[in-house]
Amino acid sequence: MAKSLHLTAFMRPVSLHTGAWRYPGAYADANFNFQHLKSFAQKLEAAKFDAFFMADHLAVLNMSVEALKRSHTVTSFEPFTLLSALAGVTEKIGLAATASTTYDEPYHIARRFASLDHISGGRAAWNIVTTSNPDAARNFGHDEHAEHGERYKRAREFYDVVTGLWDSFADDAFIRDQESGIFFDPEKMHVLNHKGDELSVRGPLNIARPVQGWPVIVQAGQSEPGRQLAAETAEVVFCAPRDIAGAKTLYADIKGRMAAAGRDRDHLKILPAAFIVLGETVEEAKAKRAQLDSLVHYDSAIASLSIALGHDASGFDPDGPLPETPETNASKSGRAQLLKLAEEEKLTVRQLAQRYGGYSGLAFVGTPKTVADEMEAWLAQEAADGFTVVFPFLPQGLDDVTQKLVPELQGRGLFRRDYEGATLREHFGLPRPANRFFS
Ligand SMILES: Cc1cc2nc3c(=O)[nH]c(=O)nc-3n(C[C@H](O)[C@H](O)[C@H](O)COP(=O)(O)O)c2cc1C
Repeated sequence: MAKSLHLTAFMRPVSLHTGAWRYPGAYADANFNFQHLKSFAQKLEAAKFDAFFMADHLAVLNMSVEALKRSHTVTSFEPFTLLSALAGVTEKIGLAATASTTYDEPYHIARRFASLDHISGGRAAWNIVTTSNPDAARNFGHDEHAEHGERYKRAREFYDVVTGLWDSFADDAFIRDQESGIFFDPEKMHVLNHKGDELSVRGPLNIARPVQGWPVIVQAGQSEPGRQLAAETAEVVFCAPRDIAGAKTLYADIKGRMAAAGRDRDHLKILPAAFIVLGETVEEAKAKRAQLDSLVHYDSAIASLSIALGHDASGFDPDGPLPETPETNASKSGRAQLLKLAEEEKLTVRQLAQRYGGYSGLAFVGTPKTVADEMEAWLAQEAADGFTVVFPFLPQGLDDVTQKLVPELQGRGLFRRDYEGATLREHFGLPRPANRFFS
């Protein structure tokens, strides 16, 4: 069968662009307005998206108050509360949530995802993160954030425990025989009794096995241990490559590691985050983006640019070209990328700062046709199995994608016209995992 794309929607915050809430016609309160979130989920479902993804952070983001006070991206609903409510007003779309292996317990996480999977009829996915924001530590009674390698070690064991807990009952354990009075067969219940280096969990889980067996496992770590965790455990990877070359390298690396781990490479879908701005013409799309970027306040934009350059840029002429600055010990690749962008697009300091402070990741800016061309190329060249779509502003940016880009992709046979199955695993073409304790 010809390859086709998978699309998930990055919905926490509803747009990652820090100026989104100021765009003309945008719903400024969308992160906390359930009626808006419900309409977004229903529109995404009508467009046959694979999943609605609620990222999560356990602290307001670690940026300066100057930047923080101007951004809508730092506050949003707790994912399970929102996704449970959305499960009741949607039927097919997957519901993915982030949950942290550093600041949570496996028993809690296993219960929440098992519950969401039952409530939604098999549509839950868990984005396993180890939490990168060190400020989270102080919200959970710790002075220090655990070290990176240590966090990933716990994450790996955590995955074994959570999936083991989901397997606590055989699929047919609950016989509910009203005649004999037997509710479940104890022969079909497994007590995990896990005692490892990091975790100690007895079990069993007090919830029947999820509809999907296990909710879909997502991973978004990009580091060496992050990629390894993905290769061993993940069924979907969210990532943030800057361009197609970087994406191909990451794709080959993760799929190669999967083979080494004895897994089928088709059982993992790699979905880079892509910021999509559409217009009737490429020029119009670029103008929309420029307008959006111009809504990023200069003070916060220049603060972000200074960090990226490793050099205080607050004294630069905002309307002049970027002056020469010496290379520093800060991120070398990030700095090089900025210099290239400033040079290629002839951006002033202000435009560069606002571009960077708005949304600095991979962007497809053009007409439905040009963006579909790019997506098709990424799919064909094994740079992606689909995308995690980041909207520029809502509702218009989401409507453009669902009403203009999706039909273009469908017309090319690159995206489903209808859901073929009922569960998120079926949307992704992933097998239902066998229960490790019961055949
Ligand atoms: C598309 C995408 C979504 C992410 N979502 C979250 C999230 O919801 N919560 C979180 O703490 N980190 C999130 N991250 C960050 C990753 O979990 C990870 O910390 C980051 O990519 C750095 O990789 P590393 O932890 O392997 O060093 C996300 C990353 C990407 C690319």
